[in-house]
Amino acid sequence: MSTTLQAIRGMNDILPADAELWEQFEETIRDWLRAYGYRPIRMPLVEPTPLFARAIGEVTDIVEKEMYSFEDSLNGEKLTLRPEGTASCVRAVLQHNMLYDGPKRLWYMGPMFRHERPQKGRYRQFHQVGVEALGFTGPDIDAEQIAMCARLWDDLGLEGIRLEINSLGQSEERARHRADLIAYLEQHQDQLDAEAKRRLHSNPLRILDTKNPAMQAMVEAAPKLMDFLGDESLGHFNGVQQTLKDLAIPYRINPRLVRGLDYYNLTVFEWVSDELGAQGTVCAGGRYDGLVAQLGGKPAPACGFAMGIERLLALWQDQGYKHETLAPDAYFVHQGAAAGRFAFRAAEALRSAGFAIHLHCGGGSFKSQMKKADASGAPVALIVGDDEAAENAVTVKELRAEAEQQRIGFDQLADHLGDIIFSMEDDDGSL
Ligand code: HAM
Repeated sequence: MSTTLQAIRGMNDILPADAELWEQFEETIRDWLRAYGYRPIRMPLVEPTPLFARAIGEVTDIVEKEMYSFEDSLNGEKLTLRPEGTASCVRAVLQHNMLYDGPKRLWYMGPMFRHERPQKGRYRQFHQVGVEALGFTGPDIDAEQIAMCARLWDDLGLEGIRLEINSLGQSEERARHRADLIAYLEQHQDQLDAEAKRRLHSNPLRILDTKNPAMQAMVEAAPKLMDFLGDESLGHFNGVQQTLKDLAIPYRINPRLVRGLDYYNLTVFEWVSDELGAQGTVCAGGRYDGLVAQLGGKPAPACGFAMGIERLLALWQDQGYKHETLAPDAYFVHQGAAAGRFAFRAAEALRSAGFAIHLHCGGGSFKSQMKKADASGAPVALIVGDDEAAENAVTVKELRAEAEQQRIGFDQLADHLGDIIFSMEDDDGSL
């Protein structure tokens, strides 16, 4: 006997009950993005490997150890399943010369792939909604993107997501800070753990992120990037903060917020929930003014963020959101060859009139079909036997209300069903 095949670890099926929740989330997302003037873009899941190495940075966890990379068996080209969307989005923008007539606001949604150790909230295939604004210089767009997120949490009814921001300045400012930081860390060599020693010259900023309690005091006292920022960088950061204050969006400046991708400068931000355990960052992003030029385009500033859909949905459910399973308007029950053919035609006619009809397939007794009708959640069963078929009529039985069942002619069926559903919505108070 062959064993059943399983999905790859860290790559999950999303079963119907959850997939319906995803669809409701996606509807909210589309309305929300439209309200801010963002337009959709869809990029391939597979890109040339050098795109990510150049954009995200050679010395990052993602590029060093988390990418699903392989060679095209036909031409040997090195390919990678996208670990994030920003690099692909910028590549697409450049390839199609999309900035020729001014700045663009773009968004995408879909799976990303990272070979991380799976745990709650961390998967190997996960999904992001990504938002990218290209061609905007001022701090207004950074602040608007942060405000957008605050509005989305509100639209979804999510609570307790806190905002952390920081400024990474410009590359020259980071270079001066980096030199000072390395000198400082070298003076404290004896306190560095193995991981920190490995990163000392390749990525010293990440050492500031250490979770090692023995290094905390030393790291606290290390030179701070903020002290190396010039007037322009500070002015940009103050501009972002001013708008956040004007809009009464609470935030905390976290000088240790450095992000795991190399393309950022100036503003960076993360939205974090304490209710999700270790993987609490539900949304993260910032400015990446150098990336367009780095990928071969005419220099253009940019700013964006992405949120982890799995994490947001877990929070949404934990905080009590119950999604609606959409029941059909009616379940069609039928028995006999003539009745079956008539039911098929009637069901199609009702769908043309705008109703959602679940037509029973696969035969079975009236009794078992009626059980299925009940389980479907439909408010109405439409029943056709030989008698009804001969009369071109359907017996209409309300399943959620006390009402006489009635035999209704084919021509009046859509109106009659509409009346029942309309009166139910009235009772609900939902219309
Ligand atoms: P990121 O911080 O790598 O940024 O990912 C953004 C979000 O994706 C995270 O905050 C998290 O919610 C979710 N996420 C990341 N990895 C996983 C995983 N293994 N499992 C589940 N969720 C995950 C970016 O990807 C940037 N492209 C964001 C950006 C867009 N910056 C500018 N524009």
